[in-house]
Amino acid sequence: MTDRKRVFSGIQPTGNIHLGNYMGALRNWVKLQDEYDAIYCVVDLHAITVPYDPSELAQSRLATAKALLAIGVDPSRSLLYYQSQVPQHAELAWLLGVDTPLGALNRMTQFKEKSEKAGQKLGLYAYPVLMAADILVHRAHAVPVGNDQTQHLELARDIAVRFNGKFGETFPVPEQITPRVGARVMSLQDPTAKMSKSDPDDSSRILVFDEPDTIVKKLKRAVTDSGSEVAYDPVNKPGISNLLEILSLFTDRSIDDLVNEHNAMQYGRFKQLVADAVVEGLTRIRTNYKTLEDGEVGRLMTKGALDARMRAEEQMVEVRRLVGLGSGTIS
Ligand code: AMP
Ligand code: TRP
Repeated sequence: MTDRKRVFSGIQPTGNIHLGNYMGALRNWVKLQDEYDAIYCVVDLHAITVPYDPSELAQSRLATAKALLAIGVDPSRSLLYYQSQVPQHAELAWLLGVDTPLGALNRMTQFKEKSEKAGQKLGLYAYPVLMAADILVHRAHAVPVGNDQTQHLELARDIAVRFNGKFGETFPVPEQITPRVGARVMSLQDPTAKMSKSDPDDSSRILVFDEPDTIVKKLKRAVTDSGSEVAYDPVNKPGISNLLEILSLFTDRSIDDLVNEHNAMQYGRFKQLVADAVVEGLTRIRTNYKTLEDGEVGRLMTKGALDARMRAEEQMVEVRRLVGLGSGTIS
């Protein structure tokens, strides 16, 4: 094990990876591998907190793992695995849950939103505690996520602080890492709502694996704002501002620069420009995906889980001892 700081993050294996996931989180996952001891997880236990089809889970989990590899998660530098194959996550979630006040869980806006559709279930309610356990079981220092996870991460920090206060310094209090541009990518059809996997309207999001002509079509149809100026103003011009963020990320140029250059450009041409940049940026990922072989990725995920179990178990031995359950090893 290295002395480097650890970074942990997770993604649910439901639906396809979209531009919000990529810009808000996954690009950082890839970048941070150089600097941190990186641990990434396909969070299948989180995915089953809303209605799902069990016969599809194995396939969507594999597809998500492959997408992460195609985007640039590099198993020679990062640990990558399926959450359910490392039982220490669920065990720590229980130990943390026994001391998590209901008041904190009642404030979670994602619970309120999701339970409207999925019903008020314990799994959905306890979701943020499992997320805290994911992070803390690896004693992660930092967590790259989009802005929609800020509230969950604050709860994870509170849980870490509470545990440390009660049992002594055990967990680092994890910091959130969000990108400067793209922390909240908006829907192409309603730029006041975030781009999301669960939006029934396919044209609201660009998938990382969309074909070039689909990307062009979706961007051409993107809802823009009244007026005709390409300007950055997320409140009054949310549509164009969202497109500017996308262009900035894919061209690696500042929003100011782009506004200066394209200020007078017609919306139609501007959208084409954004589409060209996105198509070019995503081509490498699409090509990588095709080279990945299911069996090989499956083996890689098994190896990842075995390594992650060993690392998580080291931490759990300490946690069990602290809470009075011994080491957990029966002799
Ligand atoms: P999920 O698909 O909900 O598991 O999210 C995976 C990661 O993508 C998390 O870090 C989210 O914060 C991030 N994410 C999801 N949607 C967006 C969005 N529209 N903009 C920015 N980041 C997002
Ligand atoms: N809740 C996160 C999401 O929906 C996924 C997630 C689960 C996660 N556990 C995590 C993210 C731990 C960061 C760290 O996007």
